[in-house]
Amino acid sequence: MPIWYGWLNRSAEGAPKLELPPGEKECVESTQYMRTSHVDLLNNWKETVVRDGKRTYVSSTGKEYTMSLTNTCITQCHSNKAKFCDRCHDYMNVQPWCWDCHNFPKEAGK
Ligand code: HEC
Ligand code: HEC
Repeated sequence: MPIWYGWLNRSAEGAPKLELPPGEKECVESTQYMRTSHVDLLNNWKETVVRDGKRTYVSSTGKEYTMSLTNTCITQCHSNKAKFCDRCHDYMNVQPWCWDCHNFPKEAGK
């Protein structure tokens, strides 16, 4: 089991404070699922778009989302990328390379 898994399931001392999107109650899937599996979800989206040319994702609750890292994840919700994605990644010492290619709005930080 990955070392960070325990932290993700508790809120330990010293963990970074994440800035959640104002007014939104849930992500495309449950918080628990996103904590453990957002990487799988994003990889899945990528493959579905690039390989199958399909762009609509139907969540486990039946809601539809456009599979887009920049537009759906960052622009529509986690516009504060620096205080959400980066804050956790920095703490965990992970550096996703996605931003080499995928753009995000300036105000999202970094
Ligand atoms: C070398 C450049 C490159 C890198 C690095 C890269 N991608 Fe992509 N990605 C693309 C291209 C090109 C497409 C196809 C764009 C389209 O058809 O809309 C794409 C499509 C996607 C899509 C679906 C459509 C969209 O616009 O979001 C997702 C999700 C995605 N990538 C996620 C990721 C993630 C997560 C990472 C990092 C782990 C990543 N990508 C790294 C080039 C890249
Ligand atoms: C609560 C902590 C946390 C938050 C918030 C978070 N991540 Fe992550 N992320 C991680 C961890 C831990 C990993 C490394 C473990 C893994 O690969 O499953 C990771 C890995 C990734 C990877 C794969 C990088 C690689 O090198 O394989 C991508 C892509 C990614 N995150 C995208 C995002 C995006 C986009 C956001 C914001 C919308 C985000 N993450 C928010 C904890 C987080």
